Amino acid sequence: MGLVAVENDILKSALLRIQAEVDETFDAFLPAPDDARAPLVEAMRYAAIGGGKRVRPLLLVATASLFGVDREAAVNAGCAVEAIHAYSLIHDDLPCMDDDDLRHGKPTLHKAFDEATAVLAGDSLHALAFDILTRPDTSSDPFVQSELVRCLALASGHEGMAGGQVMDMAAEEQNYDLRQVTRLQQLKTGALLAASVEMGSILGRVPPDGRAPLRGYARDIGLAFQIADDLLDIEGDEARAGKALRKDEGQGKATFVTLMGIDKARAQARMLVEQAVGHLAGYGDDAALLAALARYIVERDR
Ligand code: IPE
Ligand code: IPE
Ligand code: MG
Ligand code: MG
Ligand code: MG
Repeated sequence: MGLVAVENDILKSALLRIQAEVDETFDAFLPAPDDARAPLVEAMRYAAIGGGKRVRPLLLVATASLFGVDREAAVNAGCAVEAIHAYSLIHDDLPCMDDDDLRHGKPTLHKAFDEATAVLAGDSLHALAFDILTRPDTSSDPFVQSELVRCLALASGHEGMAGGQVMDMAAEEQNYDLRQVTRLQQLKTGALLAASVEMGSILGRVPPDGRAPLRGYARDIGLAFQIADDLLDIEGDEARAGKALRKDEGQGKATFVTLMGIDKARAQARMLVEQAVGHLAGYGDDAALLAALARYIVERDR
């Protein structure tokens, strides 16, 4: 078997494994209450269980495994990032934002339930993330817990995902150049991907000055990931992606693809991935899964 086939094999089984683990963990964390909150929890389960690729939890678990972290702890922390991601998608799909009807091949949450439930399910998944990070089976060390919480908080709010989302909404009036689009994408998408890698290092008790290569890797794949999403918006297959495509241009989004064109954007994404893999050199074969994940991020079709 060639190197690429081996990489594909490693990645396929790793994705299937983490997808099952994330679903089981959310199932355990979200029992349906026997009172009027039942529809809220049902909506949280609708958004959090099944559907997603689970790239962020896999990034976290693959990083943590470099440092021998307990698998359950890493999966829990991965679910915390995924809870923030799931909430961001619920809100991203609302009529006041991207106004989408389809996510993961089924109606978006506000279509399946209603807008108020969608707002509140997003709020509750946001809170669940920090609940998970402070559970003893994620870490029994209060210092590690607080580092995890701080890392995810910074990546989620105005200095991270939400800040990027507001820049994204303003794109039509702002006429961003490449530098500003890079900043937008780093916040909107890069921040949570980078936090996934960082939280793997935190669980592994890697001191901040030892995290530089992994931070370089995370920054490069973060940008490449959003370029791939923007390419999919133009070239992808809707049934495969499970969401409406060919919307960015009409909604006036500023992306690498709108600024550079398809070919240059793809070349840029591939260059970023090779640069990302280069940062892993010091970890040798142990980082094979992170390298495979980086390649998957740009070549994926969903
Ligand atoms: C989609 O993220 C939104 C972006 C940040 C580009 P993913 O492509 O990771 O979505 P799922 O979770 O796999 O559906
Ligand atoms: C969403 O980006 C990024 C988030 C922070 C949720 P997009 O709006 O491009 O994601 P899709 O294409 O709807 O999945
Ligand atoms: Mg959006
Ligand atoms: Mg969207
Ligand atoms: Mg998109």
